[in-house]
Amino acid sequence: MVQIPTETFALTQKQDGYSGTSEGLTFESMDPYLEGKTIALPSLAEGQVLIKMAMASINPSDLHYIKGEYGHPRVKGAAAGFEGVGEIIAGAGNHAQSLISKRVAFTVGPDGSGAWAEYAVTSAAVCIPVRDDMRNEDAAGHVVNPLTAMAMFDIVRNAKSGSFIMTAANSQLCKLMTALGRDNDIAPIAIVRRDEQAAHLLELGAKNVLNSTAADFKETLRDVIRQEKPRILLDAVANQLSADIFASMPNQARWVVYGKLDPQPPKLQEMGQFIFMQKQIEGFWLTRWFMATPREEQVRIIGEVQARFVSGQWQTEVSDTIRLKNAMNDLAQALRNTTGKVMLIP
Ligand SMILES: NC(=O)c1ccc[n+]([C@@H]2O[C@H](COP(=O)([O-])OP(=O)(O)OC[C@H]3O[C@@H](n4cnc5c(N)ncnc54)[C@H](OP(=O)(O)O)[C@@H]3O)[C@@H](O)[C@H]2O)c1
Repeated sequence: MVQIPTETFALTQKQDGYSGTSEGLTFESMDPYLEGKTIALPSLAEGQVLIKMAMASINPSDLHYIKGEYGHPRVKGAAAGFEGVGEIIAGAGNHAQSLISKRVAFTVGPDGSGAWAEYAVTSAAVCIPVRDDMRNEDAAGHVVNPLTAMAMFDIVRNAKSGSFIMTAANSQLCKLMTALGRDNDIAPIAIVRRDEQAAHLLELGAKNVLNSTAADFKETLRDVIRQEKPRILLDAVANQLSADIFASMPNQARWVVYGKLDPQPPKLQEMGQFIFMQKQIEGFWLTRWFMATPREEQVRIIGEVQARFVSGQWQTEVSDTIRLKNAMNDLAQALRNTTGKVMLIP
């Protein structure tokens, strides 16, 4: 019989609420934000499950959150971590109990207990049973990036654009969208800031990779835009570079902002383009997509996400895997390597 724990070791938040800062995601040390310690697990409310963690991913949203720069306030003393995979070992209510002993991918909302822990609490409703043949590395990041990739790629497909531009293109999310472009014959144009990232993105299916720090970037961008005529910019950086790329795009171009990796805001210089070229700026947030997308459609897309990972069409690239107990020492350094995801394991 499984012993049900009442406490967990976790990376807990040291601060409350919002910070009012917009610093970006570099960390000298995790000490100002996190503390590794044992905390009491909340007792399960109706519809909640207790999960024995196998692996948790670290996304930019987690890092913005612990800095007090995300869409909801921090809770001092609570475990951090929005997403992971593990086995359900207890549940409250019929549906929650029917999931006991299943391996699930999940996210944690403000009413749960975070995934950067040995045990996490979340709602059974957000738990996604995972196929046996899906790796923990892929299941730990099943929700946030893969579903965003599918949803934003639909924006490209529905716009009937033959190509699309991505900033911060070496991110895990952009690697997934690059593969979607490759598989659907829609040319991905990747913008990065390091030459060494180009070869791998071309191998994954990018048609063009441009280094925004290169001396001839402007000219290369102009030539690529003239040739490919991309009408969608999927933008995680939201800075002056993004605004300049958008200004170079053709009629009816749409700038879809889904991240703010650079704290510097852009200045818009070409307001006439909104009038005469029918250009548009909009945002994308997965939370809203969940609210707006019918449940059956979500289930279909989740099935497709798992099939893509299992078949090898997609892969989560991992740069480091760190034990929770070592995270306060090792995490800040590991996050400096941006070639792949850092994963946490108990
Ligand atoms: N809106 C939504 O619903 C939603 C959902 C999922 C993800 N997101 C966003 O999607 C983005 C990517 O997430 P991820 O998990 O795939 O990221 P990731 O794998 O952790 O990669 C982050 C990437 O961002 C680049 N980067 C960081 N700061 C930058 C800057 N100032 N300028 C240019 N590039 C910069 C890094 O490039 P270098 O190698 O050059 O450092 C790295 O390749 C994040 O902004 C995240 O918040 C949004």
